Amino acid sequence: MDQLFPYVNSLHTLAAVIWVGGMVFAWGFLRPSLGFLEPPQRLGVWSRVFPKFFMWVWIAVLVIPATGYFMVFYDFGSFEAAGHHVELMHIIGWIMIVLFVYLYVAPYKKFKAAIHDEAWPVAAGHLNTIRRIVATNMVLGLINVITGVSGRFWG
Ligand code: HEM
Repeated sequence: MDQLFPYVNSLHTLAAVIWVGGMVFAWGFLRPSLGFLEPPQRLGVWSRVFPKFFMWVWIAVLVIPATGYFMVFYDFGSFEAAGHHVELMHIIGWIMIVLFVYLYVAPYKKFKAAIHDEAWPVAAGHLNTIRRIVATNMVLGLINVITGVSGRFWG
């Protein structure tokens, strides 16, 4: 362990907290609270929330692997030395990143175009795809947080 480990690990965990916490808030609290709005208003709220949230997810998507690989190769030396929990976190982390990038370039891009055209049912369909991907990533993210925090005791 070198002296940088606590800082790099804190940065890694902060990025995870912002990404996973944002998904929990969006999926678990905001989504069920917007049901009383008409589709144009409801979709309008999401079209304003997503750019702000996704900008932070992009930061997390860069910070998490950078800090993760730093800890693996600089502090532990290799994946073997880091433990099975880090290998698991690595695989789950990349699945999450690929899902997010897909979400951004496919359904989210189409969602924005549909909002621009005021094609509300089309936008609602893409929002549904985004919701399912976010729900999947939220579960994977929660598993990864448990893995990261508890893994040193079993990995
Ligand atoms: C490229 C993918 C990733 C790599 C290489 C990686 C690597 C690491 C390493 C080496 C540690 C320190 C483990 C230890 O001290 O035993 C760690 C901790 C942690 N990671 Fe990851 N990680 C990755 C992705 C993620 C993702 C996607 C999340 C959550 C969304 C996450 C959440 C955490 C958490 C919460 C900790 C625990 C910090 C602590 O309690 O010390 N990691 N990660």
